[in-house]
Amino acid sequence: MSEEQQNGQQSEDLGQRTYEPPEEFAKNANCQDPEIWNKAAEDYEGFWEGWAKELHWFKEWDQVLDWDPPFAKWFVGGKLNASYNCLDYHIEQGKGDKQALIWVGDEPDHQQTYTYNELLTEVSKFANVLKDHGIGKGDTVSLYLPMIPELPIAMLACARLGAIHSVVFSAFTPDQLTERINDVESTVLVTADQSPRGGSITDLKENSDAALGDAQSIESVIVVRRTGEEVPMQDGRDEYWDELMQNASDQCEAEEMDAEDPFFVLYSSGSTGKPKGIQHNVGGYLVQLKATTMWTLDMKDDDIFWCTADIGWITGHSYLVYGPLLCGGTTLQYEGTPTYPDNTRWPSVIEEHKVTTLYTAPTAIRAFMKQGTGPLEGSDLSSLRLLGSVGEPINPAAWVWYYENFGGERCPVVDTWWQTETGGIMIAPLPGITTLKPGSATKPFPGIFPDLWDEETEEFIEGAGSGALTVNKPWPSMTRTLWQDPERYKEEYFSEISDEIYYVEDGAKRDEDGYYTITGRIDDVLNVAGHRLSTVEIENALVNHEAVAEAAVIGVEDEDKGQAPVAFVILQGDQEYGEDLEKDLIGEVADKAGKISRPDRVYAVEDLPKTNSGKIMRRLLQNIAQGEELGDTSTLADPSIAETIQEQTQQQMS
Ligand code: PRX
Repeated sequence: MSEEQQNGQQSEDLGQRTYEPPEEFAKNANCQDPEIWNKAAEDYEGFWEGWAKELHWFKEWDQVLDWDPPFAKWFVGGKLNASYNCLDYHIEQGKGDKQALIWVGDEPDHQQTYTYNELLTEVSKFANVLKDHGIGKGDTVSLYLPMIPELPIAMLACARLGAIHSVVFSAFTPDQLTERINDVESTVLVTADQSPRGGSITDLKENSDAALGDAQSIESVIVVRRTGEEVPMQDGRDEYWDELMQNASDQCEAEEMDAEDPFFVLYSSGSTGKPKGIQHNVGGYLVQLKATTMWTLDMKDDDIFWCTADIGWITGHSYLVYGPLLCGGTTLQYEGTPTYPDNTRWPSVIEEHKVTTLYTAPTAIRAFMKQGTGPLEGSDLSSLRLLGSVGEPINPAAWVWYYENFGGERCPVVDTWWQTETGGIMIAPLPGITTLKPGSATKPFPGIFPDLWDEETEEFIEGAGSGALTVNKPWPSMTRTLWQDPERYKEEYFSEISDEIYYVEDGAKRDEDGYYTITGRIDDVLNVAGHRLSTVEIENALVNHEAVAEAAVIGVEDEDKGQAPVAFVILQGDQEYGEDLEKDLIGEVADKAGKISRPDRVYAVEDLPKTNSGKIMRRLLQNIAQGEELGDTSTLADPSIAETIQEQTQQQMS
């Protein structure tokens, strides 16, 4: 297709465009072998073993894979340490003075950098602090911290001791923190006085105190002074990070961990109200991160790598902290928002720090796109050489806008599909080889074997088609179990088709070239601005309010956020619906389930559409909220209710 034709196309055809890897990029790419997929398929254990050899092991493995479906063990018998691999190993190779971490604060003049030597010192000291608080191999530590360097330092300190960290996103509410502490039964909580972000302040210590009333396992709270504001400190329980660090030794040996020892737990939303404690183990997780950071994100020694995700989510764990540090790279951690103090902030950070790789979410790209190129124009973005996208489907228009305006048409865009459960990137281009198609995550990473399942015929789809995404062979960074609940792990992921096939809960399409496009979740999970939210958790927050008898939450299409939550409630007998009540209910959700979970609208209806078996027909509510036709209502216990709900909703919409 000619350039002219391409440019003349309507936006809905952008997905048909193709982009070859830029010549300069392709010549220098870390992976340049077009046969690599075939080679990895011929011997996938051998392929992953090759990557394992890129890490430092105290003792090599005896067996690459022990697959006892659905439980996998990788690099069986191998001994290693994550913090050693991220720090000491590079220092031994003469990189001690290289910048490991660049921290950029919420206020533009607030910055700090750490070399590999400096980071190791901080990590070792904090590991000793934790040791003094009784933490050792196999113990759990909860981290409820803003985007400050102490968060990666605390994670690496846990890793050094073989302790299991559970990072709790700092925008979560006290109730959410309580639930996550109680599930891992940690004895130590690390938090901060306050969290400044986008010019406003969250009182993290206050939140922690509120959470701890119902989280009795915590014996010690270590508080980072982020703003220095005076906060209540409980005698005998609470201590300041800086005071503890003053006397800590900077020598701490890295614990030899078994490849299959637990590394960390990270909670993610599932289709029930109870979050899932996704457990990753040390060896396999690190191997896949090294492979994907090197090949998909094409990490180079002089890269300045900026992953904009919060460390409270898996993307931050894998590609802000562990992936870049495993590769001896320089990772940039940014505390703020894209719009504070104004909307030129991101471009200025790119220019100032000469960022080479930007890895962000489609929501952020769409927010920029909406403002036009203005905010980008004052900054020199020519240091960028690779762009990444993660967390939600990227629409072709946003993809092309990102490619043209951030990337100046010289940077490949890698749209990377993966999940908290997969630990690392699964479907994504190899930017030096793959012909890109806007909106498509393209092909599986070599050694990963996705497929499409036809739910009606109960068969795998051959060739082009669409269906439920599966992964048909184990992979190194797969979640090993849900925290202390192997039964739920099996039931959630390996019961739909068989105990050998990972059922993803995403829908996907595959085209005639074998390219995958992920279309979105097919369970009761919403993806709002790249954040994974459980409809049930929001429903629970609503029914917690005295005015609500029953609630159903669905996701509607949203231009900016991808999806937005919308709620339908049945009010208690004597309650009057009105603007004030709606606001109150939205506030209740913010308090209980966090601000990102806030529904855009709450409609009050007489009844909810239920099937004979009592299941809420969410699709119908979705059609109503989006102003579409009702569609087939025959499976409803009372089909006439559909029209009543539609009428009531329409009245409240105006
Ligand atoms: O629906 C998919 C979507 O995000 C879900 C995973 O969310 P989480 O575990 O929070 O991890 C997000 C970061 C890896 C998936 O089930 N998702 C993630 N990446 C993409 C995506 N959807 C489309 N395209 C992607 N690149």
